[in-house]
Amino acid sequence: MDSPVVAQPKPYLVKLECGRAYFWCACGRSRRQPFCDGSHTDTGIEPRRFVAPRTEEALLCGCKHTRGGPFCDGAHTNLPGGSPLDDPDSPANRAIPLVTEKDGPRRWLDGGCFIVCPKSAASAWRGNLRHRRIVGAELGARYQTQFLLEAEGARTPPVSLGASDAVLLVSSGGGEVVISGRAFPVQATDGVYLRPAETLELVPRSGESLQAFLLASPPAALEWPAGAGDNFDRRFPQRVIAVDAARRTAMGSRFFQILVDERVGSRVITQFIGHIPRSKAAPHRHLYEETLIVLSGRGCMWTETRKATVAAGEVIFLPRKQLHSLEATCAEGLCVAGVICPGDNPSITYYD
Ligand code: FES
Repeated sequence: MDSPVVAQPKPYLVKLECGRAYFWCACGRSRRQPFCDGSHTDTGIEPRRFVAPRTEEALLCGCKHTRGGPFCDGAHTNLPGGSPLDDPDSPANRAIPLVTEKDGPRRWLDGGCFIVCPKSAASAWRGNLRHRRIVGAELGARYQTQFLLEAEGARTPPVSLGASDAVLLVSSGGGEVVISGRAFPVQATDGVYLRPAETLELVPRSGESLQAFLLASPPAALEWPAGAGDNFDRRFPQRVIAVDAARRTAMGSRFFQILVDERVGSRVITQFIGHIPRSKAAPHRHLYEETLIVLSGRGCMWTETRKATVAAGEVIFLPRKQLHSLEATCAEGLCVAGVICPGDNPSITYYD
């Protein structure tokens, strides 16, 4: 059997029609990419037939190295040409203005993308829990609501996100999270998963504060039940996922590690932590909506006609399909914690 050839080291964006059968080219030799034109004859590689379950846009693999054919699974990012870079000092890029004007805690880029300084966002208190709304529908988000929670001293009042799935990213401090009565120790950079209708309480370590970003999908408001629930969903016992270098996935010179996804029960949210070395990726798009919490380092977020600096502690909101590039500008690179929804793989990008 011959080996597949790379038709292009990136996926093809196609519109699939519900119920229609397609033949995805697996050999890479078709001149009608990403579909079969019969060129596989004598290669020993057969096209993959599939029926679209719904009418939707999809990214079909162009590199023919996907393990999830016909769909792109990010394998192209580790092939020659699969993680292209851009020169931030090119004449075209130098002409893009740096946005410094603020709209409250936010700086806006193209297409509804923004950078927000969470500590400058309006806050409210519930007992000893300070909460701030960072991302929501009023700011253009369609799939998520994000809050910054800051707990001081004792155990906080219980909070719930109703019927939504939720994830927590512990951004500083440590202690315990209590999910519907079940306690889990946590420390900075841990990811935490909450099932619908469960309650959350934060318990900072003695004398410390605990800060965490709470994100719900579908979008939801904070609810304040009178007491902690006893409805812990025992079908999904793993709720805290720590950073583990052995679980990294390479993506060109970048890497990421999934924290929360369907393996722990999450239905629509995928949470990850990742590192970007000093570099600027070529502008690209995603089919998912994304928020990125900058944990360390400095960088620059680029869209078509604007760019803005980003630094540790800030949050980037990126609408679905918005052209962008996140550049790391410091020697140690950028460490980010991200959430994509709906989506399951943060390495799937597409290019114009
Ligand atoms: S294009 Fe083949 S895995 Fe993405």
